[in-house]
Amino acid sequence: MRVFRTQNELQLFNQELAQAGKELGFVATMGALHAGHMSLLHQAQAENQATIVSIFVNPTQFNNSEDLEKYPIRTDEDLALLKKEGATAVFLPSVSEVYGNKVEADDLDLIGLDKGMEGEFRPGHFPGVAAVVRRLFELIKPQRAYFGEKDFQQLLIVKHMAKVYQLPVEVIGCETERYASGLAMSSRNFRLSPDGLASADIIYKQMIWARENYQDYSPGDLKAAIVDNFENSDLELEYIEFADANSMKMVSDWEQHSAVRVFIAAYCEGVRLIDNIALY
Ligand code: PAF
Repeated sequence: MRVFRTQNELQLFNQELAQAGKELGFVATMGALHAGHMSLLHQAQAENQATIVSIFVNPTQFNNSEDLEKYPIRTDEDLALLKKEGATAVFLPSVSEVYGNKVEADDLDLIGLDKGMEGEFRPGHFPGVAAVVRRLFELIKPQRAYFGEKDFQQLLIVKHMAKVYQLPVEVIGCETERYASGLAMSSRNFRLSPDGLASADIIYKQMIWARENYQDYSPGDLKAAIVDNFENSDLELEYIEFADANSMKMVSDWEQHSAVRVFIAAYCEGVRLIDNIALY
């Protein structure tokens, strides 16, 4: 497995791939890799002759400096795992390699995709994500890039960003990997105790309950019922929202939307977890 840290190394790698007629599949990560990331890598491997994974904890997407400081760093374990799984290359850039001396997000219109949920509770998060993914796409020049649906709002924003800047990359959304309990795989789970891991499965259970019962409720009443259910749990609910799966607009009437997803953010043992699934 090749390990690159600079733009120049990537340029040579790209030339090599072009000469060999190989296409490059890319998985962007902030490290602390788990089976969810590996499933993105496996899809990239199935659809491309070469794969690259970036590990870069992006400072511009953390609105909370404590969250950035606490983000788990496990580079040695990550590299060993990627080598075992057969990634062709890893990109481990410094902050200045990605941003030069201007460590800030671009002024990109996110056309309302960032209005609710993560955009509301983490101001500045999505401009930071769009900025770093743009730079990574420009540096790495992949034919295809793979993003998990666990961060569904992020997936739509990355697709929008690539379209606006006309970047020649196909952005592909991949289903969320889950434990048997239903809990979504996440780097943040590394910070949970076994008890925390067990109680966190309420997030998935409540989303499934919403999918099975939404037709009997208005969006407002369904929300209120889920808020109540969280009150009797070990988790502290931050939000529960129903949003249109294409525009991310909040849903106040099921009839007016052809595809809706439920989105939840909740704190478990002080760790912020998010998840979402399609209601219909
Ligand atoms: O989903 C993530 O891990 C990050 O937001 C990403 C896409 C790697 C950008 O820093």
